[in-house]
Amino acid sequence: MSGGLREIPINALTPLEASAEWKSLAKEIAEHDKAYYKKDAPKISDAEYDALRQRLEAIEVAFLDLVRSDSPSQKVGATVAAGFTKVPHAVPMLSLGNAFNDEDVAEFLARVRRFLGLEEDEVVEIVCEPKIDGLSVSLRYEDGKFVQGATRGDGTTGEDITKNLKTLADIPATLMGAPEVLEVRGEVYMTRADFEKLNKAQEKAEAKVFANPRNAAAGSLRQKDSSVTESRPLHFFAYTWGEVIPLLADTHNDYLEKLKGWDFKVSSLTRLCSNIDEMLKFYNELEIKRSKLPFEIDGLVYKVNRIDWQERLGQVSRAPRWAVAHKFPAEKVHAKILKIDTQVGRTGTLTPVAELEPVPLSGVWVSRATLHNEDYIKEKDIRRNDTVIIQRAGDVIPQVLEVVKTQRPADSKPYEFPKVCTECGSLVVREEGEAVRRCTGGLICPAQALERLKHFVSRNAFNIEGLGGKRLEMLVEKKLVRSPADLFRLRERQKEEQIQIGRLKRWAEKSVKGLFEEIERRSTISLDRFIYALGIRHVGDVTAKNIAKKYADISAFIKSVNEASKERPGPAFTELSTIKGIGPIGLKKLLGFFEKNEELKKLDLESGLEEQLQKLKISRLTKPARNELAKHYMQWTAFRNAMFHAIEQQPGETFNEISNLEGVGVVALEAIIDFFDEDKNAEAVQRLLDQIDVYNDVTDTQSGPFIGMTIVFTGGLEGVTRNEAKVVTERLGGRIANSVSKNTNLVVAGVSAGSKLEEARKLGVKIINEAEWLKLVEGK
Ligand code: IVH
Repeated sequence: MSGGLREIPINALTPLEASAEWKSLAKEIAEHDKAYYKKDAPKISDAEYDALRQRLEAIEVAFLDLVRSDSPSQKVGATVAAGFTKVPHAVPMLSLGNAFNDEDVAEFLARVRRFLGLEEDEVVEIVCEPKIDGLSVSLRYEDGKFVQGATRGDGTTGEDITKNLKTLADIPATLMGAPEVLEVRGEVYMTRADFEKLNKAQEKAEAKVFANPRNAAAGSLRQKDSSVTESRPLHFFAYTWGEVIPLLADTHNDYLEKLKGWDFKVSSLTRLCSNIDEMLKFYNELEIKRSKLPFEIDGLVYKVNRIDWQERLGQVSRAPRWAVAHKFPAEKVHAKILKIDTQVGRTGTLTPVAELEPVPLSGVWVSRATLHNEDYIKEKDIRRNDTVIIQRAGDVIPQVLEVVKTQRPADSKPYEFPKVCTECGSLVVREEGEAVRRCTGGLICPAQALERLKHFVSRNAFNIEGLGGKRLEMLVEKKLVRSPADLFRLRERQKEEQIQIGRLKRWAEKSVKGLFEEIERRSTISLDRFIYALGIRHVGDVTAKNIAKKYADISAFIKSVNEASKERPGPAFTELSTIKGIGPIGLKKLLGFFEKNEELKKLDLESGLEEQLQKLKISRLTKPARNELAKHYMQWTAFRNAMFHAIEQQPGETFNEISNLEGVGVVALEAIIDFFDEDKNAEAVQRLLDQIDVYNDVTDTQSGPFIGMTIVFTGGLEGVTRNEAKVVTERLGGRIANSVSKNTNLVVAGVSAGSKLEEARKLGVKIINEAEWLKLVEGK
C-alpha cells in the first residue's frame, strides 16, 4: 500500500494526489492480477482486491481525465500468458458486479426494473446459481463439434487450451443437433477432496503445492503437456453462452435445460425465483450448506431469466447489467496457536505466521494463518497458546482476526518479535515509517540469496549475461552459489571438487566455458557498479554513482560508513529528516531556530500547527514544508517536543557528510550502515573483494590537465574512439562541449577537421592535435 494517500477521502484529494494515487493503485492491481492469473498465487484476499478496484474506480468517477483505455477498470482479469496461442473471443467474456448485502441485491433488482421501465406488478424472474470458485472457460462448437476451448484471459482475448479441455470428461466432444455455432461458457473447478489429495501427492513428489482448489484447477488447466491435465480430476459446469447462431432459447433457464440435454453438467443448486424474498431465502439456505458442499462456492449469481431483457439491459464497463454476484461473508472459526513463526520473504521482510492446531475452514484444513506484521500482533495482543478467531477471505492464506481472551492460559506472555533473522541470524531492522521488519543480512541470507544474486548479475551491476533466467536459480538450488563471492570461485571449485555444472539441466559444457570467461571478464569492476551490485536498500545506480564520486576507493567508503555508524542520529531526528519537502539545509535552519529560541520549550499554543509555524517566520521553511510538518506532527506541543529531541539527537560530521551527498540522504545512509554493521555482510563483501578488482573512474578529480576547461573535439581520431577520448578528458577534469564558442578553452582537432576548426581559429581558441592531447593525458 502506498501509505498516506490511501486514507484520504476521494473528495479531499487534489488532482495531483488523485493522479499519483491512481497510478499507484493501477500498478498494485496489475501486480495482483499477475500473481492471481499468471502465477495462480494470489497475495491478497478477494475483499482486499475488490477494495483496491473500488477505490480506483471511485477516483476515475471523481477525476474523469484520469480514465485511460489501459486502466484496470476497462479490462477483466489477466492478459495472455506466454506459451499459449491467443484466441480472440467472438463475444467478450465479462466479469460480474458484486452485492455484499441484502440492500445491494434490492438495488440490483430496482436498477433492472428502472432500466426496463417495468410496471410495478410485472414479475422479474431471476435464476439463482451457485458461484463456484474455479476458472471460467469458453467452449466453441461448430456444427456440433468441439473446435476450440479458451480461458477468459483479459476478457477480449484468451489462451487456446483446446487440447487440455478435451481431456475433461464433463466436456462433450460432439453435440447432436446443435446450432451452427455455439459457445458454451462455464467454470472448470476441482472438488475439495480432490484438491487435498492432489496436494498430498504434490508434496510427496516435492512439486508445487496449491493454495486452494481454484489455483489447483487453474494450474492444472494451464499445462503445456495435456497429459498432466488429463491426470488431474477437473470438472466443468456450464452457466452461460458466448456466440450462438441461431439463438437457442428465450430464457436462461431453458438454455440450461438444453445444455443438460447435450450432457453438459449444470449445477443442481440452481433455482428460479420470482422475488427478492425467495432469492434471499435461497441465499441463506446455501450459506448454511456451503461448508458441506464438495466444492467451494463464494456466493450466488443472480441472472435475469428473460434473454430479451438481458439483451436490452446490456453491460456497463466490464459487467452485465442483468446479473450480479451475491458474495458470502468470509467464514470464521476458532483455532489454537501452537507457535508464532516468522517467514523471511525474498526481499528480506519478516512476516509473522501463526502455526495452528489444524482446523477445517470452508472445507480445507488450515494449519497456518498470517499475523500481518509486528504492529498487528501488538495491537491485538496475540500470543502463543492463545485461542483465536481466524477467517479465510477469498482464497489466500487465512488471517488471525482476534484473540478469545477468556481462553488465554494464565502463564501466557506477550509475543516478542525476533531481533535477528530466523533464516540467517542477521540483525533485523525496522525503518522509520515502515510496518515491516527486514533482515539486514542481504548477502548471506538464504531466503534472499536468489533475489540478491539476480540483482548482483544484472545489467547495471556486474552485468553477467550468461546467468539469466533459470540458470542462476539452478546454481542456488544446488547450493553451488550462496553469496556473490561464490560466483568468482566457481571455476576453481569445478576443478577442485569436480562439480560438473555442464551436466546440470539447462547447461552445456560449452556454455559453462563461456560463462566462466564472462565471469572472469567481469571481475574488474567500477566502484559505482560495485556499490550498486550489493543491493542495499535505497541505493540505486544513481545513488551509487554519487557515492563513488566522493570516495577514491572502496575501503575509503567502508571506513567512512563505519565512522558514520558511531554517529547515527536518534529517532526524533530521523523522523524529522524523512518528512517530505525539508532538505538538509531546511532541517539545519529549523533546528537552529529552536536552538536559539529556548523559551519555545515552555510555550503552549492552541490553534492549528500550520498557522503557528507561519507565525514563527522560520527562514527557508516553505509553505509546502510547513504543511507536511503540520500533517505529520498535528499539534504544536508534539512538534515542539520533537524539535528539542531532534536537536539532542543530531548526527555527527561523517554521517552528515555522506547523507548530504546528492541523491543519498538519511534513509539510504541508514540502510548502508545497517548493511555494513552486520558482520556477516562485511565478511561477505571482504570475501568478494578478495576475488575481484574494483577501480574508480568517477571520482571528482581535484587535479588534472583539463580542470576547469571546456573542450571541443573535432575531426577523426586515430588512436582512440571519440567516446573514449571524451570519457578520459572528463575524468581528468575537462568539460566536453559540442560547438566552439568564445567560452571554449581548447579544441582537439583530429583528421580532416572542418568548420569547428575554422571557428576556433577565428576566435583565437587554443588548438592541439591528437598526439598533443595524448601527451597531456599521460602527463608528459
Ligand atoms: S456468469 C456474463 N455464473 O465468476 C456473466 N459466473 O466474477 C459472466 N462464476 O468470470 C459470468 N460461477 O469465472 C457466472 N454461475 C456462474 C458462475 C460464474 C462462477 C465466475 C466466472 C466469472 C466470475 C465473475
